[in-house]
Amino acid sequence: MCGIIGYIGQNKALPVLLDGLRRLEYRGYDSAGVAVCDGQEIITVKAVGKIVELDKKISLENKSLQGNVGIAHTRWATHGKPSLENAHPHCGCKQEIWLAHNGIIENYAELKKLLEKKGHKFLSETDTEVIAHLIEENYKDDLKIALQKSLKLLKGAYGIVVMHAKEPDTILAVKKGSPLLVGLGDKETIIASDVSAIIRYTDKIVYLEDNEIVKVNKAGFKIFNSDYEEISKEIKKVEIDKNEIEKSGFPHFMLKEIFEQPKTITDSVRGRLVLSEGKVKLGGLESVQEKLREINRIIIVGCGTAYNAGLVGEYMLEEYANIPVEVEYASEFRYRKPILDKNTAVLAISQSGETADTLAAIKEAKEKGVLTLGIINSVGSTIAREVDAGIYNHAGPEISVASTKAFTSQVIILALLTVFLGRQRQMSFITGKRIVEEIENLPNKINKILKQEKDIKKIAKKYYKSKNFAFLGRKYNEPLAFEGALKLKELSYIHAEGFPSGEMKHGPIAMIDKNFPSLFICPQDSVYEKNISNIEEIKSRSGKVITTATVGDENIKNISDQVIYIPKSLEMLTPILAVIPLQLFSYYMAVLNNRDVDKPRNLAKSVTVE
Ligand code: F6R
Repeated sequence: MCGIIGYIGQNKALPVLLDGLRRLEYRGYDSAGVAVCDGQEIITVKAVGKIVELDKKISLENKSLQGNVGIAHTRWATHGKPSLENAHPHCGCKQEIWLAHNGIIENYAELKKLLEKKGHKFLSETDTEVIAHLIEENYKDDLKIALQKSLKLLKGAYGIVVMHAKEPDTILAVKKGSPLLVGLGDKETIIASDVSAIIRYTDKIVYLEDNEIVKVNKAGFKIFNSDYEEISKEIKKVEIDKNEIEKSGFPHFMLKEIFEQPKTITDSVRGRLVLSEGKVKLGGLESVQEKLREINRIIIVGCGTAYNAGLVGEYMLEEYANIPVEVEYASEFRYRKPILDKNTAVLAISQSGETADTLAAIKEAKEKGVLTLGIINSVGSTIAREVDAGIYNHAGPEISVASTKAFTSQVIILALLTVFLGRQRQMSFITGKRIVEEIENLPNKINKILKQEKDIKKIAKKYYKSKNFAFLGRKYNEPLAFEGALKLKELSYIHAEGFPSGEMKHGPIAMIDKNFPSLFICPQDSVYEKNISNIEEIKSRSGKVITTATVGDENIKNISDQVIYIPKSLEMLTPILAVIPLQLFSYYMAVLNNRDVDKPRNLAKSVTVE
């Protein structure tokens, strides 16, 4: 949430900062700004809206942004509406200190009052501006000392990059609960909140830990721990295919990521299936393998799409591994009093590995001394480093704000985990082998569904003016009803709700009429007949029905207005197939409504605030 970048090197800072902002834009896009130091003064330009507005403003204002040192920010508003005043970078009264911040300062109101009493004048409604004034208040002649003093007073989460006009070739950065990393290029250093802003320039990365301060100048960088002693840190080599962060001919990242799914599923399971033994190998769980035998309860925590994937996992783990599972919204788990014992494991699911609520849930579980696990896509992310053991998705960077390929890879990893834990318990070799074999067939089956893209677009054309939509499913596909509704509303802003099909008659069916369509996920599985009855109930109330059904099911056409077919699969794996039409449908509903598909309004990727 929010994107930060800082540059110092032998090249002009501005092009790197703007390129970085474009790559970080998916993290927040309601306003943006840059501050560049030309050796004497710091010049800033800010704009409301996306980075293209900032580009235009920079050309219009024709300011001299020629320096080799600078910081920039793209914002997702928390304190104060999107406006020029609230856009980062922010400064103190003397306009010498400029900083960009990601996170939330919880005690900003209190600090603001204190600083106002000392004569500081504030221009914005943000919590961030307080940090700039606080550093200014503490500044004598050394920015690092002023920053250290100020940090002692800050409560909350932050990633901060800061510079001072009197120390023109220095940038300082610090993080607490918000990601920040340092990219070491050839005679240039880039600090950013996300590796995607750095990867074009270097693959050598240093990940900052909480409370570590990095001081960068043209000579290099130094890192200090929370006691302000200089420390050395491992330089990691990141392996991201640069094509993964480009659209590669697709009109949107979302469509590209939907079409990547046969590959991402293959990547997620690569080297992990042991067909001959009906087992799976999960290297990331080896260190806790024996502990896992003792586990008799799993609590899955996640948010949004990751939570929905967890719900599919609940069905899988209970049916095939015989382990009771609860799925909790991470934002709720962290504030309740969970009853945890030594045989409970808490499993976090997160694409970004940075979601504040999920991270806090894991910290809470660790506090209680239980085993913590993760299914995380972003390698080296905070949650990945926080959990005791975990499984990486290997789905590659997901740039579209709406999650697609991360969902299917989360579900496939949950299937692997089910076989892993199931085989430690009662699951037979035959059952394990059948699941593993079918997992291998999934990429081809997904390809078959993707070939129906044009048909799905035609269906979207019939419905894109709808004001409401219901998504319905049962058992393994009940979570898909939630996921389908989430995708549609976040992308097209059409009101959509997901229900277990059986729940309609307990209230929601009152909404159904000819203008309130439903999409049923109704493959030929163990609850097929029940679903059919629920479709009939909608049809008798004049509701339009789209169904996702199993290839060969001709009868369903009699009770559906439109049918999208998916290949037959094991019941537990159908969600991985059935979600593809839902993703494509939501995509085209958004396109037809002229929505900004990759960056829906009010949203951001990687929600690093509560
Ligand atoms: C919806 C979506 C969000 C995320 C949620 C969790 O399309 O992308 O609901 O799934 O914010 O994010 P991660 O997985 O990064 O923890």
